Amino acid sequence: MPTSQPIDITSPQFKANPFPYFARLRAEQPIYRTTLADKTPIWLVTRHAEVDTLLKDERFAKNPRATLTPEQLRKLPWIPPMFRPLERNMLDLDPPDHTRLRALVHKAFTPRLIEQMRARVQTLADELLEAAARKREMDLIRDYALPLPLTIITEILGVPTQDRDKFHRWSKAIVSISSFSMPWLVIPDIWRFSRYLRGFFKLRRASSGDDLTSALIQVEEAGDKLSEDELMAMIFILLIAGHETTVNLIGSGTLELLRHPDQLEKLRRDPALIKTAVEELLRYTAPVFMSTERYARADVTVQSVTIPRGELTFGVIGSANRDETVFENPEALDITRENNKHLAFGQGIHYCLGAPLARLEAQIAINTLLRRMPDLRLKDSPESLRWRPSLILRGLEALPVKF
Ligand code: HEM
Repeated sequence: MPTSQPIDITSPQFKANPFPYFARLRAEQPIYRTTLADKTPIWLVTRHAEVDTLLKDERFAKNPRATLTPEQLRKLPWIPPMFRPLERNMLDLDPPDHTRLRALVHKAFTPRLIEQMRARVQTLADELLEAAARKREMDLIRDYALPLPLTIITEILGVPTQDRDKFHRWSKAIVSISSFSMPWLVIPDIWRFSRYLRGFFKLRRASSGDDLTSALIQVEEAGDKLSEDELMAMIFILLIAGHETTVNLIGSGTLELLRHPDQLEKLRRDPALIKTAVEELLRYTAPVFMSTERYARADVTVQSVTIPRGELTFGVIGSANRDETVFENPEALDITRENNKHLAFGQGIHYCLGAPLARLEAQIAINTLLRRMPDLRLKDSPESLRWRPSLILRGLEALPVKF
C-alpha cells in the first residue's frame, strides 16, 4: 500500500506532480483501490498493458444504468430528470447506442472539415500572439492556449462568438467536478448550458447555417436521425471535449518545453519536428490524465485482483504513458521519440473523436509561438504554478510568461 491515508488525487497540489505516486503504484499495486474525497471507492489501473486492455474491455461498461445492481443504482447521485438528456452523450454509452451516435457524428465531423480549419487556426494563432506581443508578457493559458481551441470549436459548431466566454464558464465548472456526489454544485451551470443550447437549436432549425450543428440536425444514417436530446448531448460533449483538453496540451506542453531548453531549441531550429514533438508532449503531459469512468459489469479479475461488479474503474493514462516497460527512459522528454505508443487519446471504441483537430491545433499553436516569440520564458518558477483541480484532466490554472 503506497500510503496509509488516501491521497486526494483531484487536488491542485497532487496534480502538480502526480508521477512519483503512480510510478510506485505501477511497481507495487498496479490495480489499486482507493477512495475519492466523498468516500466513493474507485479502482486505478496504472500500467500501460492493463490500461490499454481496460479501455477496450467489454467486461466494463460506460453506462451505469445497464450495469449496476438496484442497490448500487440507488447509491448513484440523484440527477434531476431535466439533465437526463445529457447522459445520452456517446462517451457515456455502450454499443449499440454508442455505435449509432458515433456513426451519425462521423458523417458530419469529417477529416475534410478538420483540414479546412488549418488556415483559420493559423490566422487565429497569429492574431492572438500579435495582441499579446504589445504587452511584453501574458498568461499563456488565458491569452492563447484557451481562446484558440475554444474559438475553433465554437466556430465549427456555429455558436455565436459573443457567447464563447459564457460557455467556458459553464464548462469549467462542470469539468472541475472532483467527486461523484458533487454534481449538485454544478446544477446551475448545467441548467444554463442546457437552456442556452435549446434556444440555439431553435435558431438553427429556423435557419440553418454552414456549421456542424446544422449538419448534425440534418444528418441521417440509414434512415436514422439524432433526437433533440441526443443532439443536445452531442453538442454538449463536443464543446467541452473540444477545448477543455487542448488547452492543457498547449499550456502544459509549452511549460515542459520551457523546462527542457535543449528540446525547445531543437524544435525551434527544426520546426518540422513538430509532429513527433506534439506526440511526445501528449505522452509526457497527458492532458486527459485519467480515462473517464468504467463500471465492471460483473466481478472482473485483472492481474489476479478482483474488481467487484459495479465498482468505478479508471485507467490512469498519465501513468501508462510513463510505463518503463513500454517507453525507453520514460521520464525524459524527447521530442524525436519514435514509435510513441502513448494512450493520450484513449483506445478502442471511445478513442478520441477530436484527435486530428487537437493535433492540428497544438502543432500550429506551438510552432507559431516559438517562431513569433524567440525570447519566450517563464515569469515565475515552475513550482509556484497552480494546477486546476479535476478528477480526469490535468492542466494549469495560469501560465505567466515573458518575451
Ligand atoms: C489534446 C486534446 C485531447 C485529448 C488529450 C483528448 C483525449 C480523449 C480521451 C482520452 C478520450 C477517451 C476517454 C475514455 O475512453 O474514457 C476522448 C474521447 C473523446 N474526445 Fe477527445 N481529447 C482531446 C481533444 C478533443 C477534441 C478537440 C474533441 C472534439 C472536437 C474531442 C472529442 C472527443 C469525443 C467526442 C470523445 C468521445 C468519443 C466516444 O465516446 O466515442 N476531443 N478524448
